[in-house]
Amino acid sequence: MGTGRARVAASILDADLANLAHEVRRVVKARADRIHLDVMDGHFVPNITFGATTIKALRRVTEIPFDAHLMISEPSRYVGGFLDAGCDSVTIHVEVEEPIEPTLRAIRAAGRAAGLCVKPATPIAALEPYSELLDIVMIMTVEPGFGGQTYMRDVAAKILPARDILRHKAVGGEVHVDGGVNRETAEHAGGLGADILVLGSALFTKGHDMAREIRLVKALADEGYQYQLNDGKPPIPRDNWVTFTRLPKTIARRFMDEIEVGGIPVLMLRGDGDINPDGVRDYDLLVPATAEMLTIDRHAAARGRYLAEAEAWRARVRAGGDPG
Ligand code: DX5
Ligand code: ZN
Repeated sequence: MGTGRARVAASILDADLANLAHEVRRVVKARADRIHLDVMDGHFVPNITFGATTIKALRRVTEIPFDAHLMISEPSRYVGGFLDAGCDSVTIHVEVEEPIEPTLRAIRAAGRAAGLCVKPATPIAALEPYSELLDIVMIMTVEPGFGGQTYMRDVAAKILPARDILRHKAVGGEVHVDGGVNRETAEHAGGLGADILVLGSALFTKGHDMAREIRLVKALADEGYQYQLNDGKPPIPRDNWVTFTRLPKTIARRFMDEIEVGGIPVLMLRGDGDINPDGVRDYDLLVPATAEMLTIDRHAAARGRYLAEAEAWRARVRAGGDPG
């Protein structure tokens, strides 16, 4: 996987809830880093979703971390159930009308990551009193309750000061941005230093290739951040991506992994060239323009080898060989 800094948590709120286990397997296969579980009680927000029992059932599906996002009015009453269900982190809302500290302490006592989330209208300063108890600060960039809403760029500005709330954590503190994150907004959120980008509708939009969406969002977030925090403005005119080579899908993926090991982010996008004998088009491997020379220095020889391998593979498949 890419060695960039941004990671993706897949929110299953907009998934096909009639096939939840299958949907979780799909996002895991698409290499999401986390599952983001939106729990809603119909009281704190005007929507009701699922509870700890459902999460416990889903826990059997995958090992990747579960981030519970509790949009409920009484987290203290239910937090134990989410911990028992196997959530790796539990984030509650600072706007709830009950004591917050005991719930944060209970989450940490269970050895999990404790988080506080702020709605768009809530200032980040509201988290200050709880700072020492936090592993996660979650910035909502939509009104909580539903997926598919538009990212609030002005609200996202809270991502920057959110880092300061976590100043007590030398490592492991995470700033999550949640709501309307997609390929159009990822660079902005990344430029503000978001660690975890929650993707909901962007992943479950018909026709979107999930793995490609996740790679694109991570690459764009890293691009937004790649030089330094810059108040969310891309530090340079958006670095364009240049095609380094074009190969059959399985060979392309191997070469992509080889390049990424060295820290150069690679986008693998379905090309528009000829169709291979296995019926699948070649894939383009793109690298940031600023890394093109480095990629050539490091990988031009390997590119020649992979292109030769691709030719031999095409000839073999045309002669009836197994496409593999
Ligand atoms: C909204 C939830 C978000 C939402 C994200 O209340 O907390 O996690 O599902 O979905 P998108 O990415 O579609 O905004
Ligand atoms: Zn959420």
